[in-house]
Amino acid sequence: MDYFKLSETQAGARDMARDFAQKILLPGVIERDRNMHFPRELIRQMGDMGLMGMIVSGQYGGSGLDTLSYVLTLEEISKIDASAAVILSVNNSLVCFGLEKYGTPEQKEKYLAPLAAGEWLGSFCLSEPEAGSDAMKQKTVALDKGDHYEISGIKNWITNGFHSDIHLVFAQSDAALGHKGINVFIVEKSWPGITIGPKEDKMGIRASDTTSVQYDKVIVPRENRLGPEGFGFTFALSTLDGGRIGIAAQALGLAAGAYDRALRYSKERETFGKPIFEHQAVSFKLADMATEIEGVRLLVYRAAWLKDQGKDYTAAASMAKYAAAEIAMKQTTQAVQIHGGNGYVREYHVERMMRDAKITQIYEGTSEIQQLILSRELLKGNLYPSLY
Ligand code: CAA
Repeated sequence: MDYFKLSETQAGARDMARDFAQKILLPGVIERDRNMHFPRELIRQMGDMGLMGMIVSGQYGGSGLDTLSYVLTLEEISKIDASAAVILSVNNSLVCFGLEKYGTPEQKEKYLAPLAAGEWLGSFCLSEPEAGSDAMKQKTVALDKGDHYEISGIKNWITNGFHSDIHLVFAQSDAALGHKGINVFIVEKSWPGITIGPKEDKMGIRASDTTSVQYDKVIVPRENRLGPEGFGFTFALSTLDGGRIGIAAQALGLAAGAYDRALRYSKERETFGKPIFEHQAVSFKLADMATEIEGVRLLVYRAAWLKDQGKDYTAAASMAKYAAAEIAMKQTTQAVQIHGGNGYVREYHVERMMRDAKITQIYEGTSEIQQLILSRELLKGNLYPSLY
């Protein structure tokens, strides 16, 4: 489709990702899902290709690409392997982006460069047993001890939890101040007092690792606080805005990948003497899938474009993430239906895609949280004027 004229760089990023996904990610994707095998070796390869720090500037070893290139890349990777996509997305959107935007030059030199190169992997440690959607209710504490902070608490549902080298940890330093007492710290996995696990046995994105992390009086130097005192909650929400564009791209890739497979299958599989594509029960489904996926693609690319233009993208990111996640769930389910019994077994890929799609309605803010964010914007009466 030609509605966007991609630059040579953007098209090049997309093509490189497509090639990598088809040739390198596809062959082992079923086994990695079955065995919950984290693709550490493939992550290194993605690092060598510049994918782990795509939106980080060249000064810190990143690829210096725009958000649209990033989204196109994630879409291609996710068409084949949504687990690899989320590992890449968390490292880029939540860890590297936040570090580059709010870190000190020393923090960037020490931490951002190896993260952008894919030598280290990052995780975003915000969620807690009682602070998921309601992210303000942080029970993890960071006691101010002068030249250092002492962090204690438990984090849940941490993507890259087991394999990450660097954690961005959110913790409450002054409960009396509510969310204005929350700080965020750069924490090295090897520091004493950190216990990781257990690893969750998940329904989908099984090759990405998701764990709890426990911090027991972990000593964090003062210079590892990101941003000014009490900046943690703003850091979280502002970083999540960009993260939601990444998850929207992941969901878009799942929907589009499942559609590709369903279309191909419908031309090969015959019933009642003709390819099932020639039965309207199937071709009408495919027409609906194509229409809805193209609609969502526009929302996702628009959110990326707004971010690249330096415009407000909070609502656009929420809308893209909400719509893409809903469509991913719906269209991967349709793809299974079109495959019939074959869709229900691993070999045909679409059952995995359906399982993977579910998480896009849950993480980085559930669909209901996106509805909340969007309805607040509607109430303010500024949703559309803020987008255009
Ligand atoms: N950017 C920056 N600041 C923002 C913001 C944004 N997008 N949205 C709100 N804020 C500010 C507000 O201005 C306000 O600041 P002041 O007090 O100074 O005025 C402050 O944040 C609090 O805002 P609200 O009163 O609106 O906060 P709330 O608690 O009512 O609602 C929420 C906020 C949108 C529901 C938020 O809690 C939220 O997004 N929850 C979902 C959390 C989430 O996405 N978790 C994902 C976990 S990470 C993950 O999944 C990663 C992974 O591993 C894959």
